[in-house]
Amino acid sequence: IEVQEFDLVVFGASGDLAHRKLLPALYHRDADGQMPENARIICSARRDYTDDDYCDWARTALQEHVKDLEEDHLARFLKRLRYVKIDVATAQGFEDLKKVLDEREDVIRGFYLAVGPDLFGTICENLGRVGAVNDHARVVMEKPIGKDGASAKALNDTVGAVFKEEQIFRIDHYLGKETVQNLMALRFANALFEPLWNAAHIDHVQITVAESLGVGGRAGYYNTAGALRDMVQNHILQLLCLVAMEPPESMNADSVRDEKLKVLKALSPIGNHNLDKLTVRGQYRAGASAGGAVPGYLEELGNDESRTETFVALKAEIANWRWSGVPFYLRTGKRLAQRVSEIVVQFRPIPHSIFGTEAGKITANRLIIRLQPDEGVQMQIMIKDPGPGGMRLRQVPLDMSFADAFKVRNPDAYERLIMDVIRGNQTLFMRRDEVDAAWSWIDPILAAWATSKETPKGYTAGTWGPSASIALVERDGRTWSEDDAE
Ligand code: BG6
Repeated sequence: IEVQEFDLVVFGASGDLAHRKLLPALYHRDADGQMPENARIICSARRDYTDDDYCDWARTALQEHVKDLEEDHLARFLKRLRYVKIDVATAQGFEDLKKVLDEREDVIRGFYLAVGPDLFGTICENLGRVGAVNDHARVVMEKPIGKDGASAKALNDTVGAVFKEEQIFRIDHYLGKETVQNLMALRFANALFEPLWNAAHIDHVQITVAESLGVGGRAGYYNTAGALRDMVQNHILQLLCLVAMEPPESMNADSVRDEKLKVLKALSPIGNHNLDKLTVRGQYRAGASAGGAVPGYLEELGNDESRTETFVALKAEIANWRWSGVPFYLRTGKRLAQRVSEIVVQFRPIPHSIFGTEAGKITANRLIIRLQPDEGVQMQIMIKDPGPGGMRLRQVPLDMSFADAFKVRNPDAYERLIMDVIRGNQTLFMRRDEVDAAWSWIDPILAAWATSKETPKGYTAGTWGPSASIALVERDGRTWSEDDAE
């Protein structure tokens, strides 16, 4: 797809996100020949850099984060970079930015806010003040979008005073992951699944986003957020929406987002009355990860008072015709046994077995969508054991690994998403009402935790979280998928 000429302004261009994700993503799009000839990337930060200084910094970032960096591609990419010093606190530098932008007319203008949310408002106001926001402009907001519904509203109001909703791209990088987009392909480009995709045939769904790393250098931010705000309010609820939504009319942005919104609105409330039955909070203690000893969260933070959760497990329910009575078990945490994100759709058992007891146990079908690492889709089915010894049944996987099936580099989520911003395609971005609806479900959980006498349960780093998380599913006669595998 042809991409229109653009100028992309990156605020926070000397920060971690630019370093690890944005510059590498932009480099790849360029190296793959996906960037218009004169596209510019205008990098802005507070440091006193010249264009050359910034290019040196960018070169280092790319050398660190891009495998197989090619010198000629790198040289071409670095030529696209400009640097404009802006001190957001004193509002200095916006006029300089405007001058650079005015060198070109009629090109797409993207403003990427890769800075803390406390700066979003000032940046947008100043862009408006200097007249940099024209009809070709769009703005990208990184999470966190607020720390609760009220602060999200304030943030959206401030940005909304300068940009129209169709110019605002609220990024959730999980939506840019290949396998997440594949969820839509799987559900809506195959006749096989949709007729079974409901409470009559599905027993429950598990969504796990497990990380093996701890909070490390991000403890300052993380301690004000916790796993529920950091991962569930956005990434995990977005995954849940894609699994649970009705088929949208088309891939048009509003059709998809209308359907996701309905799911969020149908989530049964969790609060004081059912908190203990439906939620588990954990915090990691010292343990082992990747074969080495690692400290606990409180030691890393240097504060032994913190009640911030580094793990959460929830039993969510969607009160509508399709999903009534089907639990969605959600879980995420830092310093868990393994880095793995997956969606497990557990089908109901067959209604009646025609095979005798000698055939062995008939295990219900299960669809596993592996988001990372080793992206793939696996369907567990029953077959007959080979051989003449009678009808013995066995569970086997029908397995599709992306790495084996497609011998291409798996692009990072940001590569897709940044180009969607330029193309003006909002399908994979969150609309304001989705963010509000997600907070409306999360806020009462946070409020109930805040007044609860219970503190997060400790779990040893390198395990699957507190034992209460196992109990959460066992109470319903179910198990987390890794326990079944053993
Ligand atoms: C971010 C969270 O949004 O997602 C981090 O703030 C988390 O805490 C990260 O580590 C996980 O992303 P990925 O793409 O590595 O799964």
